[in-house]
Amino acid sequence: MSTVLQTADGSHTLYVPEIDESYHSTNGAMQESMHIFINAALRQHPQPHLSVFEIGFGTGLNAYLSLLEAEKTGRRISYTAIEKFPIAMDVAVSLNYEQHVSRYGYMPEKGIFKQLHGAAWDVKTDITPHFALRKIQADLLTFQMGENAFDIIYFDAFSPAKQPEMWSETIFNRIFAACKPNAILTTYCAKGAVRRALQQAGFQVERLQGPAGKREILRAVKPARH
Ligand SMILES: C[S@@+](CC[C@H](N)C(=O)[O-])C[C@H]1O[C@@H](n2cnc3c(N)ncnc32)[C@H](O)[C@@H]1O
Repeated sequence: MSTVLQTADGSHTLYVPEIDESYHSTNGAMQESMHIFINAALRQHPQPHLSVFEIGFGTGLNAYLSLLEAEKTGRRISYTAIEKFPIAMDVAVSLNYEQHVSRYGYMPEKGIFKQLHGAAWDVKTDITPHFALRKIQADLLTFQMGENAFDIIYFDAFSPAKQPEMWSETIFNRIFAACKPNAILTTYCAKGAVRRALQQAGFQVERLQGPAGKREILRAVKPARH
């Protein structure tokens, strides 16, 4: 049973006592998501219309920031997120993300965050004019992601120490096949074994400076030709 925690930038995360792990960095959930997924991935892709795949919908924070970014910039995002263990609606509505996004220049329309959680599973739902969401309740380990479908991958699984099976070469091979040429994957984990597994799958991988409290993160790009 997870509990809500306040992180250093004031935004919430969830803590899972059974595995002693939180959904985000305790140094600041929102600053971490902005740094790794919005700045290092979404904003780096030149296409005006993007197809995003998130591993671990969880609190919905990455989906919410992506929606706000789409509305702010006028880019269109088709967002797919897989989640094996959805959180309860009462937990979702207790999260304080709407109160913290204005510092990133976003103007939240009240109730949108709840709509992300209330959207039906396994169907595509238009949440705003620029943002469509398809949440998939499934296990990444057995899910067939398809081929040549995504421009951006937010790889936000629990850590390799807690869930090594999520970070395997088999999974990264499947993700690579599901990526379009020039697709960008980012993740908070900069371990050598993860970098090598991504390279083995075919990605070009670089280390980037991490958000507050973290030295490095990884960004992987699928080459235009491979
Ligand atoms: C580190 S949390 C991050 C969640 C989310 N990105 C967020 O910002 O709140 C990892 C997420 O992966 C989900 N997860 C764990 N195992 C999974 C699996 N086998 N398939 C799909 N999702 C899984 C967890 O339930 C959790 O929501």
